[in-house]
Amino acid sequence: MGPDMGRSEGVVPMSSEVGSHWFEPMADHMGSAYLRYSFTKGTVQEVDHIISMLDLKPGMRVLDVGCGPGRHAYEFARRGISVHGIDISQTFVDLASDAAPKGATFERMDARALTFDAEFDAAVCLCQGAFGLMTANGQDVDVLKGIRRALKDGGGLALSAFNAYFVVKYFEQATFDAGSGVNHEVTEIRNQAGESQTVDLWTGCYTPRELRLMLSACDFEPHSISSVDPGGYVEGPATTESSEFLVVAFATPVRRMGTR
Ligand SMILES: C[S@@+](CC[C@H](N)C(=O)[O-])C[C@H]1O[C@@H](n2cnc3c(N)ncnc32)[C@H](O)[C@@H]1O
Repeated sequence: MGPDMGRSEGVVPMSSEVGSHWFEPMADHMGSAYLRYSFTKGTVQEVDHIISMLDLKPGMRVLDVGCGPGRHAYEFARRGISVHGIDISQTFVDLASDAAPKGATFERMDARALTFDAEFDAAVCLCQGAFGLMTANGQDVDVLKGIRRALKDGGGLALSAFNAYFVVKYFEQATFDAGSGVNHEVTEIRNQAGESQTVDLWTGCYTPRELRLMLSACDFEPHSISSVDPGGYVEGPATTESSEFLVVAFATPVRRMGTR
């Protein structure tokens, strides 16, 4: 999530069982007010860039993992690319479903237990959409493995991950746990009526090297890992100066026992 979410303090190690997630009450409180945050305002540019990087064409089918209220899914669908969005938050799934354009469908599902099998031409997982809203207990690997299973061989992946270097360098009030790579923030969120709530937010942060190792272990061929900010997706070098890395990767054939 964007740096405009608030101040930070304290590290609280946490776990979350598959099937429920600490983000759900936050989504319940924010509802459609989520879309007021500045980091949600660059959707069109982000989708333009992803379509170009993954060479997406009308008629293709994309999985949006941790889709939130569906802002990227709507934009893909408007361009003739059909999208299935999954999110753990029923509130966000309902919001996304309510005004969905033709070609965009949504369901509640835990990204750590995706049920799709070689069904999608591409997948997106953006703005810590499930990847990075975990702890250091390996659940992000479960998300990546599930995405790989959902993709056809050669299918593209665009995923954003929080930049660990940026957090350490610039989040002066944040509590970054170097052992786990998890950043803890205590922040204020607001609902549609402007009522604020204080919440804990844990974000898994990554270096490009970690991302490449994880991708390879999950049968993805990394294409690029670029420094980006919301609404400013580009292909370029990874630096310490951006809040996020945008990973573009392609699904390699899965290695199976008995094959070479
Ligand atoms: C910061 S929002 C990003 C939403 C959307 N991708 C966007 O760019 O606006 C993170 C989303 O990930 C969802 N999420 C977090 N953990 C999840 C999980 N394990 N399975 C499915 N969705 C999850 C949250 O409910 C939330 O909607």
